[in-house]
Amino acid sequence: SASPNTPLYRLHEEASRLYHHVLVNTVAGQPALNYLTKRGMSRELIGQFNLGFAPARGEEDLLVKYFTQKGIDYQLMRASGLFTEDQTGQLHDRFFDRVIYPIKNANGQPIAFSGRLLTKKATENAPKYLNSPETPIFNKRRTLFNLDQAKKAARKEGHLTLFEGFMDVISAFGAGVRSGIASMGTSFTDEQVAVIARTTDKLTICYDGDAAGQNAINRALTMLAASRLTLRVVQLPAGMDPDEYVQANGQAKFQEYLAHAEETPTAFRLHFLKQGLNLANQSELLHYVEAALREVAKVTDPVERDLYIQQLAKDYHLNPATLTGQVQELAATAA
Ligand code: CTP
Ligand code: MN
Ligand code: MN
Ligand code: MN
Ligand code: MN
Repeated sequence: SASPNTPLYRLHEEASRLYHHVLVNTVAGQPALNYLTKRGMSRELIGQFNLGFAPARGEEDLLVKYFTQKGIDYQLMRASGLFTEDQTGQLHDRFFDRVIYPIKNANGQPIAFSGRLLTKKATENAPKYLNSPETPIFNKRRTLFNLDQAKKAARKEGHLTLFEGFMDVISAFGAGVRSGIASMGTSFTDEQVAVIARTTDKLTICYDGDAAGQNAINRALTMLAASRLTLRVVQLPAGMDPDEYVQANGQAKFQEYLAHAEETPTAFRLHFLKQGLNLANQSELLHYVEAALREVAKVTDPVERDLYIQQLAKDYHLNPATLTGQVQELAATAA
């Protein structure tokens, strides 16, 4: 086509093919292939996501050499984000000694890469994941990992599933949950909310089962509240992320867990609000109940409201009629 960005797409396509080739067909790729295999990635899954490997720094950089030999224009290479530039204007590969996760647009074209260290020893200068910078074809705030495949699944299953990390999306996909997407390391954005809302009308959030994950769910729910999406939350067992759950318990158990552990945003918030509180202390309990009722007052469905009220009354030995009155008052003042 005549798009001015066509050469950038083509460069990413070729880089993606080369990284994948290095991973699956070369001796240099063997440690990375072992790493992924140890993490439970099948060859099929590696192929489905076109995972790759950027080899360690040697005499010559892989992409610099490849594209230079092909006579690719220097300015095009510079604009691609695949290289860094030294003081003399010389280009060097941005990614080296990292597993490569191609990031594709909604049409399945690679537009950026994320590279993961093989070791666990991330430092300030060597982060665990290193992402391409923004380019004319890569807008981080708008991009969702695996949207190209997930939107097809969403058409059949009626929902998308939001994960924290690339490995979560990939492991879930291997376990038959093909509707998984993830934001770009940076936190979830309003632009991504808009993309999701254009794709489906139901979203399941399945972040890591740690404090950071809980806070991220809470933040995502706030951002999604104004959208018309029907939201569900899945909380994983403490200290586990979706990928770890699949590796520890198997694919069938993961599917089962997702299907059964779903809860509403309000149910999540009622748990979340309890964090750090000592509910044996009466004033902290009253404080919690007030915050919980404020949350319940936002629910528009009267049956759903009653459900939470009954639960709160039962859990804390309170009078449901009193709680209902309070919720009605809060709803009236909020309106
Ligand atoms: N991330 C990042 N840079 C980092 C750490 C994380 O960009 N230094 C992003 C990545 O997109 C990552 C996501 O945040 O997938 C979630 O982070 P984390 O849970 O720490 O990583 P995992 O996805 O669990 O990665 P892995 O299992 O490979 O350790
Ligand atoms: Mn170099
Ligand atoms: Mn995490
Ligand atoms: Mn994680
Ligand atoms: Mn993980």
